[in-house]
Amino acid sequence: MTVKSTIQEVKHHVGQTVRIGCWLHNKRSSGKIQFLQLRDGSGFIQGVVVKSEVGEDIWEAAKELTQESSLWVTGSVREDDRSQSGYELTIQGIEIIHITQDYPITPKEHGVDYLMDHRHLWIRSPRQRAVLVIRAEIIRAIQQFFDDRGFHLVDPPILTPSSCEGTTNLFATKYFDEDAYLTQSGQLYMEAAAMALGKVYSFGPTFRAEKSKTRRHLIEFWMIEPEMAFVEHEENLQVQEQMLSHVVQTILTNCAKELKVLERDITKLQNVQGDFPRITYDEAIQFLQEQGHEIAWGEDFGAPHETAIAEHYDKPVFITHYPTEIKAFYMKPDPNRPEVVMCADLIAPEGYGEIIGGSQRIDDPALLEERFKEHELSMEAYQWYMDLRKYGTVPHSGFGLGLERTVAWICGLDHVRETIPFPRLLNRLYP
Ligand code: 4AD
Ligand code: MG
Repeated sequence: MTVKSTIQEVKHHVGQTVRIGCWLHNKRSSGKIQFLQLRDGSGFIQGVVVKSEVGEDIWEAAKELTQESSLWVTGSVREDDRSQSGYELTIQGIEIIHITQDYPITPKEHGVDYLMDHRHLWIRSPRQRAVLVIRAEIIRAIQQFFDDRGFHLVDPPILTPSSCEGTTNLFATKYFDEDAYLTQSGQLYMEAAAMALGKVYSFGPTFRAEKSKTRRHLIEFWMIEPEMAFVEHEENLQVQEQMLSHVVQTILTNCAKELKVLERDITKLQNVQGDFPRITYDEAIQFLQEQGHEIAWGEDFGAPHETAIAEHYDKPVFITHYPTEIKAFYMKPDPNRPEVVMCADLIAPEGYGEIIGGSQRIDDPALLEERFKEHELSMEAYQWYMDLRKYGTVPHSGFGLGLERTVAWICGLDHVRETIPFPRLLNRLYP
């Protein structure tokens, strides 16, 4: 009896005959045997066609198959220690669905622009598949972490009347007769949600019209934004280290195969658990100056600064208490030192830069009003946000984890463009 299977599921069918819908990834032949590398999205497996054991028509069908041709294959499953998947298929039948001509991505090297133009096909390759599988697993691990701890998933709007992270990089659009912007961050809405549900998190796309062409910047990226009522600075950092440890350890356990495809040095990830090191902004400035960097107190860090600091540690490192001047309007000043705020950026190891930005929020209505004036923000647009302080204000904190930078780091990639199925970059809206 033949059972329908996927490549992933053949382990349950050793010794049986299975039928799998798949594509030809690659092929090699040694006269009387053809070795078909097959893929079906769930995995890769080698199928063996032996001329003396199959009919002439099946032998010829195998010969006809080109890269990315689609087919139904029937064969018996064997365990095979030498193969990457651990299993092999002895092919008994081939039904061709479609013969592909001139597939644009061949096993030879292609330039990045060419591959990006063919992103819709490039994602079929083993490396890109591995990245997207890990991305999905990271999302699952994050949601599991929060769901298990009494957080509720809340979806903030994408079309908004005002900004969250400053007005310089907003994507403007029309909302009928009104001006609207694509969201830069769901945070302000998540603060409202935390006052309703206690502990909440969002997961959604955010948009920044940043004119930055770096390996860390996307125009459209996905953020996870937890927000917690009755939580202050210290506890906020603890949630971040616990969440990230859970994510990294889950990926090490569940995605070992994919990390291997990416040739990721996993010893660099194994350390990511327990407490993370912390330094203050002041200490970071002093450290950088000692290392010969030209940076003065009050300036923000650039990528080389973050990398220099991160190189010092084998875990992600928190930089806390940045100058009030250079951070967002909603951050709560340190009561003992109002020139700095109770915030932290979490810097990933190995030069991947800031992956989390978070803070305790201002809960005092008078101070928040003052900040609106200093930042020249319209009180009218933020009236609803002021209401959160007017009606039962409480200490609260939260943070935003950038998904793509996290994927880039865990996968060990050179650029965030490979961490999202269809990246939106400064000069790219296609495909
Ligand atoms: O530090 P950011 O701007 O913080 C916020 O938006 C807060 N409102 C979050 C909060 O407290 N709820 O952004 C958070 C993270 C960064 O640490 C980074 O990982 C990612 O979002 N990020 C980007 N990722 C890719 N491309 C970009 N252009 C990004 N800008 C920020
Ligand atoms: Mg930030």
